[in-house]
Amino acid sequence: MKILIVGAGGFIGGHLSEEIIKNHEDWNIVAIDIASSKIEHLLTHKRFNFIKADILKDVDVVEEQLKGCDLVFPLAAIAVPSMYVQNPTKIFELDFEANMQIVKWAVKYGKRLIFPSTCEVYGMCEDEEFDEETSNLVTGPIGKQRWIYSCSKQMLDRVIYAYGVENGLRYTLFRPFNWNGPRLDDIYKSESGSSRVISQFLSNILHGKDINLVDGGNQLRCFTYISDGIAALIKIIENKDNCADGQIFNIGNPHNELSIKELAERVVRLAGKYDKLKEVVKKIKITNMSSASYYGKSYQDVARRVPSIKKAATILEWQPTVSIDELLTKTMDFYFR
Ligand code: UGA
Repeated sequence: MKILIVGAGGFIGGHLSEEIIKNHEDWNIVAIDIASSKIEHLLTHKRFNFIKADILKDVDVVEEQLKGCDLVFPLAAIAVPSMYVQNPTKIFELDFEANMQIVKWAVKYGKRLIFPSTCEVYGMCEDEEFDEETSNLVTGPIGKQRWIYSCSKQMLDRVIYAYGVENGLRYTLFRPFNWNGPRLDDIYKSESGSSRVISQFLSNILHGKDINLVDGGNQLRCFTYISDGIAALIKIIENKDNCADGQIFNIGNPHNELSIKELAERVVRLAGKYDKLKEVVKKIKITNMSSASYYGKSYQDVARRVPSIKKAATILEWQPTVSIDELLTKTMDFYFR
């Protein structure tokens, strides 16, 4: 099987490529990205064909490669909340428009599509657990620009679903719930707001800066270790008896729910175990900051989001296995050992 991974140099793309190269000898990858710093170790592998290209400009390259592949993962997107509020049109152009084009080619050339939806589509839904088939997708007013990412992804989900019904597109939508692990964001950058929360906290500790709890840090997230996410993607690619066709799967770890405040305390406690951080950690304070000061006025937050993983468990026979402490330790070992 020949798999096209657009955005193979990103967090999910890089880990997925690594797993395929290591453990799936019958699968070949065509990898497209503007950067390869996270996948340097794969570049010389014979089953990994890297093509440097920008999907916003090198449109023909992507179309040409897609024609020769069996399935496509369009993984190139910006998924950092600070960017949703700072540069919403870029989110629309890249996350929506450029990916919409890839979806259309998948329809035109009859290719299988595995598309990254997001837990953000559920927005401020108040269900105890978010269900792929029944939960409402709840976003805020237009001025709250945070939701442009959620809406872009939701529209793509709806279009892909419609192409499935009307044109027989073979697709699977997966919804990552706060996947984390090594190489998610660049923790060596020191600006606040440039990373997702765990990377941001690690970056703050590394740079000896206080940790900010946005609006008090009582908001809850379920963090999922990247290897658990990748294991689900492998099952989706394998597609035993076509079980993943036409399905939407939440891929998250409901057992790893904690507040951002608890997360901060845990990260600081664990960081103190690393020799090079022992002294700096003693000086780090955990402080509160309003979301308006941290992100700007057009930010709005999700109070709680827990995935129902019944579908993934029954149809894909998948379960997450990595606890929150293991997730943090594995990630911190990568950076601080
Ligand atoms: C993320 C992003 O939208 C995407 O990466 C993705 O679609 C999805 O959710 C996911 O990771 O699966 P969110 O969970 O809000 O959204 O992103 P984070 O930046 O990791 O923030 C988590 C929480 O921590 C938010 O409530 C945020 O306000 C808070 N936070 C963040 C802090 O309290 N302090 C910080 O320094 C950074």
